[in-house]
Parts: sequence; C-alpha cells; structure tokens
Amino acid sequence: MIGFGSKPRPFARSLSPDLILSACKRASLYDVHAIPIISSTSDVLRDWARDGARSGTVLLAEAQTAGRGRMGRSFYSPRGAGIYLSLLLRPEFSASEVLRITHYAAVAVARAIESIMPIKVDIKWVNDLLCGGKKVAGILTEGEISADGRVSYVILGIGINVTGQSFPEELSEIATSLEAVSGQTVKRELLIGRILSELAPLLEEDFPRGFMDEYRARNVVLERDITVIRGEERYVAYAARIDEDGALVVRLSTGEERVLSSGEVSVRF
Ligand code: BTN
Repeated sequence: MIGFGSKPRPFARSLSPDLILSACKRASLYDVHAIPIISSTSDVLRDWARDGARSGTVLLAEAQTAGRGRMGRSFYSPRGAGIYLSLLLRPEFSASEVLRITHYAAVAVARAIESIMPIKVDIKWVNDLLCGGKKVAGILTEGEISADGRVSYVILGIGINVTGQSFPEELSEIATSLEAVSGQTVKRELLIGRILSELAPLLEEDFPRGFMDEYRARNVVLERDITVIRGEERYVAYAARIDEDGALVVRLSTGEERVLSSGEVSVRF
C-alpha cells in the first residue's frame, strides 16, 4: 500500500529498461516495461498475458496500490522504495514442474542480491527471502491451466524491499530492506538486470541441475520445529526435509510424516 507516512526516496525516478537490459547477460530474452504506478504488476501482466503478450515480458512499477503476496496478504509497495517486478512465462513444463518455479526464483534472486552486495540471503520455505532473520523479498507465482491441462502462462511476481525507510508497525518486527542490512545504496537497475540474468534458464525451459540443493542449503526452516499454517489450522511439526518437487516434509510428534505442497501452506518459526 502507498503512504503510511513514509517519505518517497528523494531521488525516486522511473526505472530505465535500457539500463536494466544493459546489466542483463540475456537481454534478448526480455521485453521490459517500467511504469510509475499500478494496482499490481502481476494483475496487469495477467491481463497482458490473456491478450497474447510474449514469454519474457517484464512489468515493473515504482509503486503498487494493491500489491499482493501469498495467502491473500498485501505486499507493502511504496513509491521508489522497492523492486516490484512481474515476469510472464509460457512454459512447456508440467504442472508439477511449474511449482518449482518459485523455488528456482528464490535461489535466483538470492544469488543476484549477493552478487552486488556483501550480505548473505537465506530462504524461508517456500517463498520468502531473509537477511538476518527478517524478510527482504517475497515471490508470488501464479498461473492459468487450460482445459486440456496445459499451463497457459505463469506470472512470476517478485517484490524486494530496497530502501531503509520505515515500515508500517505490523511489518517493522519482521521486515527489513537491502539498504538497511547492507548500509549501501542499491542500484536497482543493476540488481534487476542481474535477477533477469539468473532467471534466464526459466525462459529456456532448463532448470539448472542441482538448484534444489542450493535451495535447501539456503533454507532456514530445515531441521527445526516450525508452526504449519493452513487456513485456520495451525500445528507444530519438525521440518525434516525438502523433496525434489520442493515440497516440505514435516514430522509430527506421533511420528506421522506430512508432505506440504507450497500452494497451500505457510510456516513460521
Ligand atoms: C509474498 O511475500 O508473499 C510475495 C510477495 C510478492 C510481491 C510481488 S511485487 C510484484 C508482484 N505484484 C504483486 O502484486 N505481487 C508481486
């Protein structure tokens, strides 16, 4: 949401697609659009997808008035303070492989951040990126399946807290920004270019071998007790492992194991 008394970045300006593409190793794969303000980049890109936009179309905004996260939550998106990016994919992957797009994107964004600043980025299953235990970024993957069971399109939404300006009260304990963590000014176009470089394998339908191992290695939930949140239901379980599909396998105190698919569950620790 815009506002909350926060000041816009004094030098806030529209992102430059040319600068972004010049920082991207695989520029020809992408068609980048940057606009000042929008409801949600993912909602608008979904409309573009239905109108036939091509795979590799990227929509960025300086601010979102209705930025969305997983599980119906909103994503705080004040002007110039973050990166609000959606990428359209038209994969030939099966529906189960599509679920792994979120995991691959989390690794890609973590690598891109670490390539431009000396900070360590962790992942909290399934879609949160953390620095020092606080959230700096989130990923929202949504798609449409056609009547014949094929994936028509996928919208990969990435939101990153960039500047150190204050968060609304309900977020201040759990969220931080790249600039607050690093003490450095972030060149957003450079970071976006690096992210698009890392995401290129998704457009080439080629998940790099071993990325799930990196996803596991970065994950902070493994081998500890967590709270599983599924709708109104909450229970404590031990996070035993993440399987090759990216599902989290948890063990209850009874010894029963449950396989949690990313689409339906959140965790807290
Ligand atoms: C989450 O933290 O649960 C996911 C957050 C995803 C936010 C991004 S910002 C760009 C895109 N547009 C949206 O409305 N949401 C995603």
